[in-house]
Amino acid sequence: MSVASKLAAGIPQSLLDELRAEGGPFEDDLLHSLSHLPKATQVEPRRAVLAMPEYHPPLAGRDALRLDFNENTLAPSPRVLEKLRSLTAEGLTIYPERTTTERIVAAHFDLEPNQVLLTNGVDEAIHLLACAFLDEGDEGLLCTPGFFMYDVSISMMTSRLIKVQADDSLAFPFERFIAAITPRTKLIIISSPNNPTGATVSRSHLLAIAAAAPQAVLMVDEAYFHFHGETTMPDAGKIPNLLVARTFSKAYGLANLRVGLLAGDARLIGFLHKVSSPYNVNGVALAVLPEALADQAYLDWYVAEVRTGRDRVYAALSELGIRHWKSAANFVLMDIGPKHKALVAAMRSRGVLLRDRSADPGCDGYVRITVGVEDQVTRGLTALRESLEEIAWTPAESILAHGKSEGINEYE
Ligand SMILES: Cc1ncc(COP(=O)(O)O)c(C=O)c1O
Repeated sequence: MSVASKLAAGIPQSLLDELRAEGGPFEDDLLHSLSHLPKATQVEPRRAVLAMPEYHPPLAGRDALRLDFNENTLAPSPRVLEKLRSLTAEGLTIYPERTTTERIVAAHFDLEPNQVLLTNGVDEAIHLLACAFLDEGDEGLLCTPGFFMYDVSISMMTSRLIKVQADDSLAFPFERFIAAITPRTKLIIISSPNNPTGATVSRSHLLAIAAAAPQAVLMVDEAYFHFHGETTMPDAGKIPNLLVARTFSKAYGLANLRVGLLAGDARLIGFLHKVSSPYNVNGVALAVLPEALADQAYLDWYVAEVRTGRDRVYAALSELGIRHWKSAANFVLMDIGPKHKALVAAMRSRGVLLRDRSADPGCDGYVRITVGVEDQVTRGLTALRESLEEIAWTPAESILAHGKSEGINEYE
C-alpha cells in the first residue's frame, strides 16, 4: 500500500509520521486495518447555517477614542470597581449562580423572579429567542436598517426573515410593518431607540404590534433606553407575547462582562430558561450587576453627559452642513456621501474611531458617531472638522451623490 493510497484512505499524515517514527513491526497491519474504515466525509452543518450571514464587527485596533460601537466610552460606576476588588480567588473557581442576582434585578423592575432572565448580553437573548420560538418556515419580522445580530439569529433558524425597509426619513414604518405581519409571523424584534438610526417607536405602536400578532413573540430591544427615557417595561409580564430586553453594555459600561436582561411573561421566560445554559452569565458580571443598578447617581451623570454631548454634535453637524438624523440614543447617524470611507480613515489617523454604516440597507454614505462625555465630544468634533478639511468634503456631497459611493463589503 503506497503512502498516497494510505492517505487517500483517510489516514492523517501526522499519524503516518508517528507510526513511521516508531517503526514498530505492526505498522503495515495497522495501516491495513485503518484503510478499511469508512472514508472521512466533509461534515456539513444545517442548511440554515450554510445560508445564514456572518457578523464581523471591526474589533481590531480599537486602542483609540471609541466613537464607533455605542458603548459607554468611559467607565462603569465606581461601585462596580470596588466590588470587583473584593472578589476572591476561590470565587472564580465556582460555577456562577444566576438566581440571586435575578431576584435583585426583578425587584429593581417591580417584577417577579420568574419574569426575568439574565443573558450573556442582549446578543444571547436574541439567540435564545430564535432557538426557542422559530422553526423552519416561521417568519421573523424586522425593520431595517437595524441591529445585524437579529438577522444572524433569525436566519440561523428559518429562511423566512422578513424585513421592512424604513424610508429616507429613517422613521419606523409603522403602517407597512403592521401590514407585514402574517399568520406565520412568530418572532418580531423592534429596537427602540433603533441602531443605527436613533429612531424610536412609541409605546402605543409597540402595543398595537403585540396585539396584531398574538401568535408571535414581540421583543422590544431597549438597549439604548437610558438616553431616551421612554419604555415599555411596565407592560412586561402583563402582555403575554411581549418581552423587553435591556443591556448593561451601553449606559452602565459593562460591555466586556456581557450581561443583558429579558423581562416579560413568566411562561415565555420559562421556555427561554429551557434553551439557555444555567451558567450563561459569568459570576463576575453577576456580582457587580447589583452595584451598577444601585448607583443611580452615576447613571444619571453619564446619561446627562451624553444628552448634552448629543446636542453639541447636532449643532456642529448643522453648522458643517452635514445631513443627520435626530437620535434618541448615544449616537448620531450622518450622511457623508461618497467620501464616507475617506472620512473614517482620516478620523482614525487622528485617533478617533467612527463606524461606517454604508453597507446597511438604505444607508449608502452614512457614518455613525457615538456620543461620549464632554472632552471626548470635543476631541471627536475637532477631529471631524480637521478630517473633513483633509478630504476636501463639501456639504453638496452629503445629499447629491447618493448611490455613487464605493460600497464596503462588510455588513456589520
Ligand atoms: C440595538 C442593540 N441591541 C443589542 C445590542 C447588543 O447588546 P449586548 O452588548 O448586551 O449584547 C446592541 C449593540 O450594539 C444594539 O445596538
